[in-house]
Amino acid sequence: MKLLVTGGLGFIGSNFILKLLTESSNYEIINVDAELFGADHKNLSEIKNSKKYHFEKGNITNKKFMEEQIANCDAVINFAAETFVDRSINDANPFLVSNIRGAYTILDIITKQKKRMIQISTDEVFGSLIDGTATEQSKLNPSSPYAATKAAAELLANSYYATYGSDVIITRCTNNYGPRQFAEKLIPKTILLASKDMKIPIYGKGTNIRDWIYVDDHCDAVLMTLLNGKSGKSYNISANNEIDNLTVVRKILEIMNKSEDLIDFVEDRPGHDFRYSMDSKKISDELGWKVKSNFDDGLRKTIQWYLDHPDTLNNVSSTVLDSTPWKNQL
Ligand SMILES: NC(=O)c1ccc[n+]([C@@H]2O[C@H](COP(=O)([O-])OP(=O)(O)OC[C@H]3O[C@@H](n4cnc5c(N)ncnc54)[C@H](O)[C@@H]3O)[C@@H](O)[C@H]2O)c1
Repeated sequence: MKLLVTGGLGFIGSNFILKLLTESSNYEIINVDAELFGADHKNLSEIKNSKKYHFEKGNITNKKFMEEQIANCDAVINFAAETFVDRSINDANPFLVSNIRGAYTILDIITKQKKRMIQISTDEVFGSLIDGTATEQSKLNPSSPYAATKAAAELLANSYYATYGSDVIITRCTNNYGPRQFAEKLIPKTILLASKDMKIPIYGKGTNIRDWIYVDDHCDAVLMTLLNGKSGKSYNISANNEIDNLTVVRKILEIMNKSEDLIDFVEDRPGHDFRYSMDSKKISDELGWKVKSNFDDGLRKTIQWYLDHPDTLNNVSSTVLDSTPWKNQL
């Protein structure tokens, strides 16, 4: 099977490509990435010379370029997106372009070329849930500009299925952690700052809750939906591992043998969703997917990976280390 993976230089896309190419001989992959935030060629250094891997620098909003790339493939997995909520507060425009226009461009082409598309979405489209858990039928209720663009892409995907019968599937996942994540996000940023004995900012009181899933488990689920998912459907992917941010940071400090005095409570970001929660019964019942990783083991593996790859942490700009990046340029 020949796959077009977009955003494959980023965190989840690169883990997905590595998984497919190292664990199976069934796939050839073209990776289209515009080399924006989160992109790092080193993420794929292990397979860069593989005959089954090909990189094309390009933007998913470029219709002609994407028509040519998709014509060479059986299916598209669209990971490409602007992904940092804090940056979407500073300037939402790049999010509208990549996350909405980009998804639209791919939808239009896969419809004409009769290919399958997996649209990678997020639990953030359901907004903050004080209690209860979102199913595939729950109402989209995004709070941040980032989440709103991901929800818009979902609505476009549904409209293409309803109008043209396009072969598109939506997957929504909870917060991923694991190797190769850009240092602007909570877990790698905490590891980076702790490794340098620098203060670790925590928004508000650190009580915000996320459901953390090891990136490999997410990649397994995406592959299952690609191979056996039903067109026009969406699948929630969650780990039943809801933890507040303060506990996550404390666990990292404990594993790294660092003092909790490094924790620095800072002003919360506006519109900060308190809790996300999703039920993944559907993907388990229909496709047999199950979480394999345990959070403490996954966190240890993740910390070790960053300590073994210090350049990933050292070559980051000072804005990434800022304690309140959402304030920049406001
Ligand atoms: N990280 C998470 O916890 C999480 C959870 C649920 C869903 N998701 C979704 O998974 C996908 C991947 O997330 P990630 O954390 O790996 O992101 P990331 O920021 O690490 O990587 C995104 C990649 O997309 C590329 N990209 C962005 N816009 C592009 C464009 N217009 N054309 C071509 N390439 C472009 C970037 O260069 C980068 O390599 C996103 O769609 C995100 O919304 C992420």
